[in-house]
Amino acid sequence: MTRHRICLLHGDGIGPEVIACAEQVLRALPLDLEFTRAEIGFGEYQRSGSPLPDSTLQEIRHADAALFGAVTTPPNIPNYFSPVVRMRQSLELFANFRPCRSIPHASSRAGIDLLIVRENTEGLYSGIERLEDDGNRAITERVITRKGSERIIRKAFDTARQTGRKSVHVVHKANVLRQTCGLFRTVAFEVAKEYPDITLQEMLVDTCAMELVRAPEQFEVIVTTNLFGDILSDEACMFVGGLGVAASANIGADAAVFEPVHGSAPTLVGTGKANPIATFLAAAMMLDYLNEKESAERLRNAVQACIANKESTPDLDGNLTTDQVTERIKVRMQNEE
Ligand code: NAI
Ligand code: MG
Repeated sequence: MTRHRICLLHGDGIGPEVIACAEQVLRALPLDLEFTRAEIGFGEYQRSGSPLPDSTLQEIRHADAALFGAVTTPPNIPNYFSPVVRMRQSLELFANFRPCRSIPHASSRAGIDLLIVRENTEGLYSGIERLEDDGNRAITERVITRKGSERIIRKAFDTARQTGRKSVHVVHKANVLRQTCGLFRTVAFEVAKEYPDITLQEMLVDTCAMELVRAPEQFEVIVTTNLFGDILSDEACMFVGGLGVAASANIGADAAVFEPVHGSAPTLVGTGKANPIATFLAAAMMLDYLNEKESAERLRNAVQACIANKESTPDLDGNLTTDQVTERIKVRMQNEE
């Protein structure tokens, strides 16, 4: 059995609650896991003066994978920075994966199995911003590089192939953003030549936003730039259960961080209403990444069964608490043995 070192990043708000539940679920699987812990978020800023200490980045690099809850963004503190964006940039977690798969629940549309692959380090979120003309002109630079485009597009095609998908949509706005989206689009068509078994289709981002609402089942993989991916992936997760179940992965060459899509949900803290399933599905993605496919599948099957039987928190019409859902998942995983 391979030993894996997992760094837990609890963060703020409901982060510590859902991460504690995920730790319990992971401990119930037949795996050799070593857990470590590192600090991130506004609480850590109040304690140490930084929302993302260097020691946290070191621990994530040292671990085989990290599981992250959520953080709270404080109102207007000068010099405060987003620890999530900083973490993705510092660790070069260039690929953001957001799977959107139908769940057995009335709120979910059927027949959807879409993976959104978002470039996670450049584009409009490169962090190059300035004010000119006494603050009357604001500029944000959108940086797209060949290297950054190539590696994310390759990831999308590789993942399509590994998961038996047959098509990739590159989503852009090259008719207006001729230079930046133009480069991203060109690189996509170049890389596609290496994957004759997969069809590349292109779509303008506004059309894609519309098509996702009209017929989301037409998409298998979408690959796109940072801001577009941020928006489209939030849009798409609403067809398949919403924030209580949406999970994501941030993957780089030598680090990987898995997280629920939701934030710190301050109003839910201590109420038992936080759905831990988004974090469980993030943990399942982490197990896939660690090549523990059987355990990942067992966890996902348990989640599906609980949702189908309304063993869930109120956001999915159930009447169980966060801890009760966790217990049910553990029982269902054991029954599968
Ligand atoms: P949020 O995701 O925390 O909450 C949005 C809505 O979804 C709320 O109604 C909340 O109660 C509900 N919700 C969220 N997670 C849920 C769960 N697990 N189960 C059931 N319902 C759930 O987003 P919001 O309210 O915009 O932001 C709250 C704080 O979180 C802010 O400080 C924001 O900056 C931060 N945030 C952090 C993120 C991260 O750490 N990656 C991502 C998004 C927001
Ligand atoms: Mg977002």
